Amino acid sequence: MSKQRMLKLGANINGVGNSMSYWRHPKVSTEASVDFEFYKQQALIAEAGKFDLLFIADGLYINEKSNPHFLNRFEPLTILSALSAVTSKIGLVATLSSSYSEPFTVARQFGSLDKLSGGRAGWNVVTSPLEGSAKNFSKDEHPSHSLRYQIAEEFLEVVKGLWDSWEDDAFVKDKESGVFFNPEKMHRLNHQGQFFSVQGPLNIARSKQGYPVVFQAGSSESGKDLAAKSADAIYTGHDSIEEAKLFYRDVKSRAKLYGRSGEDILIFPGIGPIVGRTDEEAERKYKEVSELVTIESALDYLGRYFEHFDFSQFPLDEPFPELGDFGSNSFRSTTDRIKKEAKEQNLTLRQVAIRVSTPRGAFMGTPEKIADLIQQWFEEEAADGFIIRTVVPGGLADFVELVVPILQERGLYRTEYEHDTLRENLGLSIPLNRHTRESKQPLEHTR
Ligand SMILES: Cc1cc2nc3c(=O)[nH]c(=O)nc-3n(C[C@H](O)[C@H](O)[C@H](O)COP(=O)(O)O)c2cc1C
Repeated sequence: MSKQRMLKLGANINGVGNSMSYWRHPKVSTEASVDFEFYKQQALIAEAGKFDLLFIADGLYINEKSNPHFLNRFEPLTILSALSAVTSKIGLVATLSSSYSEPFTVARQFGSLDKLSGGRAGWNVVTSPLEGSAKNFSKDEHPSHSLRYQIAEEFLEVVKGLWDSWEDDAFVKDKESGVFFNPEKMHRLNHQGQFFSVQGPLNIARSKQGYPVVFQAGSSESGKDLAAKSADAIYTGHDSIEEAKLFYRDVKSRAKLYGRSGEDILIFPGIGPIVGRTDEEAERKYKEVSELVTIESALDYLGRYFEHFDFSQFPLDEPFPELGDFGSNSFRSTTDRIKKEAKEQNLTLRQVAIRVSTPRGAFMGTPEKIADLIQQWFEEEAADGFIIRTVVPGGLADFVELVVPILQERGLYRTEYEHDTLRENLGLSIPLNRHTRESKQPLEHTR
């Protein structure tokens, strides 16, 4: 019998903000991106709101035109390791690139966070959009979009293989007999692939959730495929419920093609709710932030999606420039969407820059209005959950205080954590160690 489907929530903590000028707001601490106390406070708010997870985004290349938050911020695994000590139930999802890392190190780092947190770790696999990243990793060239996804697929395969290095009963630790481990339960991966050659075993065993939960952020065809084949969840973004529903159906049916069930992959659009006790209050909060953005900084923000392209060379009030294929080797799904909208809606460069840098989003208004929209997206299968981004000061606290109780009253969302691992709270099954499975076939183990 299938369980009742429950809404899932994640909190994306973004320090001095997702926009170029958010840091200038009088209520924003200019230290937030590197202030442990700020991250701790946000984590505790999210945990009080029974959120499934904290989500830390990341990037590997900056320049003078980058968003201020990107210039000086914590590395995701490091800040989440610290947060694991001050939280007890909430999941901890760190972004880490498969294009600029080694699988052994990544498997070990996430394995460690998973143990440290008692089975609450998650890895958001990204392929790194920006060409400049190559310059920071001793590489001559940034791999193309399609090559990055090929690397990511093998990377994930290796990491999961390494996570199965030790069967759950491998460590005997019998002081009397002097037997610390059973060598038959230790497994070398001996992976020889197109991009990686890794022997193993990994020097950390599995946690009680089996593996860290794997997120994938990337919504192009290749991104959807990778998620459908190998991830537990996908982080995405949509402007309308219609678009989100199409995406949802697409990813779920791709998962089935890979022999998985639609329930094995959860879809999390990112949203930036602006909650007001009245619509006017929400509007005022939006204005306070959006009015801080200059057109120059809006152009820089837009430019980053296109490899830090200099849009200031074009007239602001003429149609958005024709860019052909440009951008498709970077944030492909995002740049495709920007170009498509600009064309379909006949937008000028100024309009596009403002829209992209200070999106109004649909999730703005009274708590009831926002709860209604969340319910609609959830029930009509546009989302299994949402990653909540803070776009106005106090945005996460407002959401937890005003919107969460409505979702709870409606029976859509938990009032208490059901479990203490991320995987179980998300309703995902705990993967059995592949070697144990092989030795036990055909016995099937789930939670
Ligand atoms: C919603 C969303 C969130 C993303 N978050 C990150 C991130 O935190 N760090 C990063 O390096 N790339 C991030 N990316 C970029 C992707 O990982 C990828 O490098 C790039 O977008 C190309 O993938 P796509 O065309 O499949 O979307 C994100 C992409 C999307 C769509």
